Amino acid sequence: MSILSKHKVIETNATLLLILSFLVVTIGGLVEIVPLFFIQNTIEKVKGVRPYTPLELAGRNIYIREGCYVCHSQMIRPLRDEVERYGPYSLAAESMYDHPFQWGSERTGPDLARVGGRYSNEWHVHHLSDPRSVVPESIMPTYAYLLKNEIDGKYIADLMKTNRTVGVPYTDEDIAKAREDFEAQANPDADTEGLVKRYPGAKVANFDGQPQLTEMDALIAYLQVLGTMVDFSTFIPDASR
Ligand code: HEC
Repeated sequence: MSILSKHKVIETNATLLLILSFLVVTIGGLVEIVPLFFIQNTIEKVKGVRPYTPLELAGRNIYIREGCYVCHSQMIRPLRDEVERYGPYSLAAESMYDHPFQWGSERTGPDLARVGGRYSNEWHVHHLSDPRSVVPESIMPTYAYLLKNEIDGKYIADLMKTNRTVGVPYTDEDIAKAREDFEAQANPDADTEGLVKRYPGAKVANFDGQPQLTEMDALIAYLQVLGTMVDFSTFIPDASR
């Protein structure tokens, strides 16, 4: 019997074909999936990535609530045109504390993975309140009401605890100081030593320029930290990993 006629036995017996196909797919699946459980560094180790400050975390929630992700992705792909436009391509580690992550694939507006530090806080206030005032051809909706919505961080500790449940390493101290840190980050006159110690590199500012603490402050604090945690002047991608 030639090998082809042996194969005929399988092809003419539906049950046997089904059982053998199932076996082949199972083995193929195992070969692809099992090694992933033993790789220690699916997420490369990178210096600088820290959990969001309470105010940034609140801003992230507003970003999600407002559906900014419908038009904006947060993932720079390792392609030349992307890297030249937006900066170094996104690393997995940069979104390891994002629950849920904001990678996305739809870009009606530009990618925001590295928008932090690209514009001043004032620019963001103008742009979010009236996008056409700074970018005349913009089709972005206006979010001026964020300037009126005052926030007090009443539930921020709960939000941090929830994030801790899914793996963000907030300490008991971080949670105990949540509200204090929340207010301090938007107040340049506050004592921010503890905040900056807990969240290295946290930017302190009156983000929206108003005396009261608003959703605009939180959203801008979040936008300004995006993509700034890793220092790409010293980061060397390790190809061996
Ligand atoms: C209907 C789609 C749409 C939605 C929703 C949207 N944007 Fe935009 N966004 C755009 C477009 C288009 C641009 C480019 C023109 C401009 O700068 O206004 C843009 C630009 C931006 C920029 C400037 C980016 C850069 O690199 O120049 C920021 C920051 C931004 N959006 C933030 C937000 C935030 C925060 C939200 C949610 C509160 C949001 N956008 C919601 C469409 C959108």
